[in-house]
Amino acid sequence: MKGVSDTMYSDTVMDHFQNPRNMGEIENADAVGDVGNPKCGDQMRLTLRVDPESRTITDIKFKTFGCGAAIASSSMVTELVKGKTFDEALTISNRTVLEELGGLPNNKMHCSVLAEQGIAAALIDYFEQHPDLQAPEGLLERAELLANIDPHGWPEEDVEH
Ligand code: FES
Repeated sequence: MKGVSDTMYSDTVMDHFQNPRNMGEIENADAVGDVGNPKCGDQMRLTLRVDPESRTITDIKFKTFGCGAAIASSSMVTELVKGKTFDEALTISNRTVLEELGGLPNNKMHCSVLAEQGIAAALIDYFEQHPDLQAPEGLLERAELLANIDPHGWPEEDVEH
């Protein structure tokens, strides 16, 4: 995935930053994902409404205190995840978010990691509340992996440019 340039934001990023989709918080949400990066102070909260029968995320909202790239990434991930089953939602990675945004400047690509961390955190929260239900395969591993990633320490070589 190529960053648009070292400094420029794509039209899609600007659109999601200026007109964020699904911003806010679902009251009495079925699951909450709170993630943040201590280095930049950016924080993201995703709240989910879930249909347990179909194991589908029927609604999702975000609240992000952070940079423009983090806000655009939050907005995009809510669009990508809404209406998806748990399994489908888990296939959405930071790279999916980057692609759909048309890239981010190289020094902002890590901000999309917060979005992927937020989805995993929200799904973990859901299955912690419902230990009787079977979590999607790979959820725990994904969450553990993401929990150990410091987006600001993300090595450049691990980023698809
Ligand atoms: S600068 Fe920290 S997530 Fe964007």
